[in-house]
Amino acid sequence: MTPSVPEQTSSRPFHYPDPKSALSCGKVSLERLAREYGTPLYVYSADQIAERFALFDAALAGRDHLICYAVKANSALAILKLLAGLGAGFDIVSGGELERVIRAAPEARAQVVFSGVGKTSVEIDLALATGIFEFNVESEAELELLAARARKAGKRARFSLRVNPDVFAETHPYISTGLREHKFGIDIRLAAEIYRRAAKNRWLEAHGVSVHIGSQIRSAEPFGAALQRVSKLVGQLRREGIALRAIDAGGGLGIDYHGDSFDAAAKVREYAQALDAALGDFDGRLLIEPGRFLVAQAGALVARVLFQKKNGKKTFVVTDAAMNDLIRPALYQAHHEILPVRPRAGRPRVVDVVGPVCETGDFFARDRKLRPVEAGDLVALLDAGAYGMAQSSNYNTRARAAEVLVEGGRARLIRRRETMEDLLAAEIP
Ligand code: LLP
Repeated sequence: MTPSVPEQTSSRPFHYPDPKSALSCGKVSLERLAREYGTPLYVYSADQIAERFALFDAALAGRDHLICYAVKANSALAILKLLAGLGAGFDIVSGGELERVIRAAPEARAQVVFSGVGKTSVEIDLALATGIFEFNVESEAELELLAARARKAGKRARFSLRVNPDVFAETHPYISTGLREHKFGIDIRLAAEIYRRAAKNRWLEAHGVSVHIGSQIRSAEPFGAALQRVSKLVGQLRREGIALRAIDAGGGLGIDYHGDSFDAAAKVREYAQALDAALGDFDGRLLIEPGRFLVAQAGALVARVLFQKKNGKKTFVVTDAAMNDLIRPALYQAHHEILPVRPRAGRPRVVDVVGPVCETGDFFARDRKLRPVEAGDLVALLDAGAYGMAQSSNYNTRARAAEVLVEGGRARLIRRRETMEDLLAAEIP
């Protein structure tokens, strides 16, 4: 099923149906969901994920392409299943993520690319046995290991080298990956020689080249620059008789965490044009690995205000969600918009929104102008669908949040709240 492509997508599925109503996801009130499933609660819009997927699919329609959703952004089985149903492949970085794909969408196993700088023999064996699309290999040592495991399994391993194009992309330093000084990929200047050597190994099938320059990149330009370098390499190898059939442009397209007027459709078109121009007359398959762009804005973290307190000049709004639920503000100084689920009259105030965890870094917003809230109110942290639940932990022995997926007018629990039994199950006192 391919959803129709909307002319213009609103950047978020969360809105107030009218000034008197509570914030809703599509037609479903977040107040109702909080009452039913408790807080903290992650809520996702399936419709928006499908819309975003359709944008990529339409923008790349002129080329043979495969959209491999980056599982790490949000690995909920229900979301993997939804995307597989739309025709997505998957970009994984661990055996665990492969297990998730196998469980959620066994039919998609041949559309999996396996990235990551530190694959183990066990993970490689699992991927070989599964019959994935290809391995994105990040070092010569890994390529040697892959060849050895392929030989043992009696199966040829299809691979792309993940090259490091030495392209700078403006983003947070922790999520930039495309410079020579980063741990990722193989120096693009050394790649040709490695392909030549691999061509002599019967257990290896050189299939493509891959590149990933970082995450939350707002401009299309660095994607084009990186892909131009990759195209040049592919052309050079073709002339030598090494005919590569796939180019994987990685993920990384960013969203706007601040405003409400982000034009996702225009952004995807601009991105696709940059890739297309760089690929020129390449007639193989184009892969992309978007994560954030597909799921971030589809999700919100709903929390309840526990207390308000003043310390010195500061006002703190303490919620029942914390950095263990959403670590992005603490880790990357990331901005997430915060809305009261049921707005109150009154002037906005400048507050810090914090969680109960015993760290000063446990904040969602600092010196933020927020509409008035009181203890017991619900707030929604927006754009939390990517790298929210996926990066959550049990720090402070806090159970992880429940997750709900809103499909059309209906909401369904896709992960129940953890219990203390779940948290302690692996421990041996
Ligand atoms: N492909 C590879 C090889 C990656 O390493 C990543 C992300 C992606 C694709 C997907 O990138 P996206 O389209 O989502 O930008 N936790 C950070 C983001 C880390 C990204 C890591 N790699 C955050 O919360 O901003």
